[in-house]
Amino acid sequence: MQLKNDLLIRAAKGQAVERTPVWLMRQAGRILPEYRAVRESVSGFIELAQTPELAAEVTIQPVDILGVDAAIIFSDILVIPEAMGLPYEMVEKRGPWFPNTVKKEADLKKLRIADGIDDLSYVIEAIKITKKALNGRVPLIGFAGAPWTIFAYMIEGSGSKTFSKARAMLYTQPDFSHKLMQMITDSTINYLKAQIAAGVDLVQVFDSWAGILPPDQYQEFSLQYISKICDAIHEVPKTIFAKGAFFARKEMADLNCETIGLDWNMGIKESRQLIGPNKTLQGNLDPAALYGNAKQVENATKIMMGQFKGSRHIANLGHGVYPDIDPEMVKIFIETVKAY
Ligand code: CP3
Repeated sequence: MQLKNDLLIRAAKGQAVERTPVWLMRQAGRILPEYRAVRESVSGFIELAQTPELAAEVTIQPVDILGVDAAIIFSDILVIPEAMGLPYEMVEKRGPWFPNTVKKEADLKKLRIADGIDDLSYVIEAIKITKKALNGRVPLIGFAGAPWTIFAYMIEGSGSKTFSKARAMLYTQPDFSHKLMQMITDSTINYLKAQIAAGVDLVQVFDSWAGILPPDQYQEFSLQYISKICDAIHEVPKTIFAKGAFFARKEMADLNCETIGLDWNMGIKESRQLIGPNKTLQGNLDPAALYGNAKQVENATKIMMGQFKGSRHIANLGHGVYPDIDPEMVKIFIETVKAY
């Protein structure tokens, strides 16, 4: 299927584009009343994600309603622990929760390496339905969590401000940590390859908790495994978004990927200097900028665009859009990028 709008793919590859493509992390979700209506028709987030027709519907909503240049498949990074044998629940207003966690070497025997096609067939089915319904209008982004971020949830059992149990594990049981990290890495490669076979046009790896590790540990326990994922995927362009990993930008320039995501703490010019000219940069407006009025959102977006000007860029926020942001302000962000 030929893409009618392939700006995202061309920008990722560093090819010429007429204008900068734009999409938002977490664009499919609670900011849209249309999403909330679908969400209320089912028992909860997990049922929605596991019903391919509905997952496809909410994936496409932001393309129709907001006018973004890409769709991102509606799912969650935590489907990987579940496929490995560690199920999660999504507790209303509190976030993910794992009834069981991984604590010691013996627990690894209860886990398996996920096979993307069989263990995650509902995501694969949702991708096929979405690709058909999109009919080439915009590219479809597939994704997975980075091994360190997935490890952090599997050890901690829920979200956390410090993830101190997960961080402690890197000091107290480094061999066990590496073994689990390698199992997550193998599962993630299988999963991303299955997503690509089903039709996704680009993949993004989210390392949401990159910023809580010291630089040397980040290299050993996270970047090393992200690098293995990058080396295993050749079929489509890859984006690595490591939130808070300002200290690793220079090393990230050596990853076998096309695009590096910047969060809003990362200076744009400094990031370009550290990463060099050979990668596309994605981001990085502060999501809180969208709490401003129309004029303020437009100005903040133009300032960001000006700083990226003249180099490879995919416009986005510096992290996921906050659920209470007015969709009208999201539209102004998108329209300002498109008109720039
Ligand atoms: O629009 C998109 O970006 C696609 C869908 C998507 C979701 N989660 C849906 C979701 C994506 C790409 C994710 C990734 C994800 N999930 C990350 C990495 C990106 C990031 O934000 O750093 C992480 C860390 C998670 C784990 C997760 N999922 C948490 C901590 C939570 C609870 C917090 C919250 O926002 O509610 C979720 C739930 C979740 N994932 C929701 C959605 C739409 C909200 C659940 C609901 O609708 O009830």
